[in-house]
Amino acid sequence: MAKMCCLGSNNKMTMTIRETVDYLRALDFLTAQLPRESLRLFFIPSFTALSAASACAGGIDLGAQNMCWEERGQFTGEVSPLMLREVGVSIVEIGHSERRHIFGETDEMANRKVLCALSHGFTPLLCVGETAEQRACGIADEILRIQLIRGLRGVSAADAGRLMVAYEPVWAIGAGGTPAAPDYAGEKHAVLRQTLCALFGPAGAEIPLLYGGSVNLENCGPLALLPEVDGLFIGRSAWEPAGFYRIIQTVLPIFKIKNGPC
Ligand code: PGA
Repeated sequence: MAKMCCLGSNNKMTMTIRETVDYLRALDFLTAQLPRESLRLFFIPSFTALSAASACAGGIDLGAQNMCWEERGQFTGEVSPLMLREVGVSIVEIGHSERRHIFGETDEMANRKVLCALSHGFTPLLCVGETAEQRACGIADEILRIQLIRGLRGVSAADAGRLMVAYEPVWAIGAGGTPAAPDYAGEKHAVLRQTLCALFGPAGAEIPLLYGGSVNLENCGPLALLPEVDGLFIGRSAWEPAGFYRIIQTVLPIFKIKNGPC
C-alpha cells in the first residue's frame, strides 16, 4: 500500500472556539475534493474548541494537544482519553517542545501517554527535537535516539503502524525560530528512520515522519522532497485556511510522486 502524506497543524493557545469553527469550515471547504486515500489532513485546536470543532471538521481529522495517561482521578488540569474520545479526537499530540521545555514534560511522561493513547485507539503523534545547545554540542543525533527509544518504550511492532512521529528542532519552532535547512532536516530524518527501524523492524519504515518548525510556503517544497519526510507539521503558516491550502497544493504533487499511486 502506498504511504499516506500527513499534513497537520497544531494551533497551540491561539484560536477561540468561534475562530476555530470559522477556520475549520473554510479549510474543509477548500480541501473537500482532495484525495483522502493518500492524504491525512489534521488540525489540533485548543481543548475548549474540540467539541464544536468535531461538528464542522468534515474530512479533517482532529487532534488533542496533550492527554493524561490515566482515565480518571486526582489529576487537576489534565484531560483524560475518555474525555477526548467523547469529542471525536483521533490524534493525540505528545511531547511537543513547548510541553517539554515550558511545562517540564519528560520522555517517561511522553511514554506513558503514548501507551495510553494506543490503548484507547488514538494515533499518538510523538514530537521529538534537539535544542540549539544540544545541536551546538554535536549531540543532536543522540538526543533524537533517546527521545524515540524512551518515548516509544513498550510499543509493539504491531502497534507501531498506528504511530506518527514529528521531528521539530526546538530552535526552529515559533516566532523566533529558524527553519531547519533541508540538508540538515534530511540528515535528522534519516537518524529517526534508522532508529524506528531498529526498534520495530520493517514496521519502522512505515511510520509517518513529519517535519515541523517554521514551515512556510517557500520551504515546504524542498522539505517535502526529502526521502524520509512523509508530511509536515505546521504552526503559524497554517493558521489562515488559504495559507494552509497553498502549502497543501504545493506539496501534494511532490508526495504523490514520492509515494506512488495508491
Ligand atoms: P511553527 O510551529 O510552524 O509556528 O514554527 C511549529 C510547531 O510548534 O509545531
